[in-house]
Parts: sequence; C-alpha cells; structure tokens
Amino acid sequence: LASTDVDLAPVQVGQSITVTWRGKPVFIRHRTPEEIKSATDVNVSELRDPQKDADRAKKPEWLVVVGICTHLGCIPLGQKNSDPRGEYGGWFCPCHGSVYDTSGRIRKGPAPRNLEVPSYAFKTDTSIRIG
Ligand code: FES
Repeated sequence: LASTDVDLAPVQVGQSITVTWRGKPVFIRHRTPEEIKSATDVNVSELRDPQKDADRAKKPEWLVVVGICTHLGCIPLGQKNSDPRGEYGGWFCPCHGSVYDTSGRIRKGPAPRNLEVPSYAFKTDTSIRIG
C-alpha cells in the first residue's frame, strides 16, 4: 500500500505505537508536555542535523518518524516503556549507540541524520494518512 491510515484516538499521552508503511516501521508518539518542551528548548544551530521541532511535528503533541536509524539501519529502542531511550529521552539505537531526542533528532553517536519524517497529513484531529 502506498499510504497508511492511522487512528490516533487510542494512543494515550506518553504512549507510542509502531505502524508499518511501505514495509518500514513508523514510530508515532503522543508526546507529553515535558517531551514537547525538551524538543523545542533546543538551540537548533548546535544540532548535527539542524531542524526545528516545528518543522518536524505538524502538531506538537504528535511525532511521526520512520523508525530506522540513519547510521546503518537498525531499529532504535524507545517505543516500549521498558526500553532505554538514551539521555535525550527519545530513542536509543543499540547497534552503535546513536541517541535521538524527543523530536527524533540525532544528538550523539555515529548516525549522520535525524530520524526521517515521512510525508503525512492529518485527516481529522485524531487520524493521519502516511504517504
Ligand atoms: Fe544505529 Fe549504527 S545502526 S547506531
């Protein structure tokens, strides 16, 4: 399927889900106010791959990223409550230690780029179409 529709209504604040889009995992996180604040309280010019949170998240509460590490393609941890998320509170790639923040931006480790934001659009307040 070229596009994937996702109902976000069941996803509680602080929860994440993983959906599949074009054979790839896509992470969708319903961010907490603290996660949003930590994503926006960043000096973007200090980032390896400088991107504002507002240019990545169409609505601050929801982050949608392709769940593939931009180093060598492992799937980062951080989707389950029990997973390590690394020191920036987002995702941690166990393969070689890349650390992503709550906007999915690379902060530490060998990955060259932020987790990719797929093309998506809100169809309603609580549903999106990816692709
Ligand atoms: Fe993620 Fe190497 S594949 S750090």
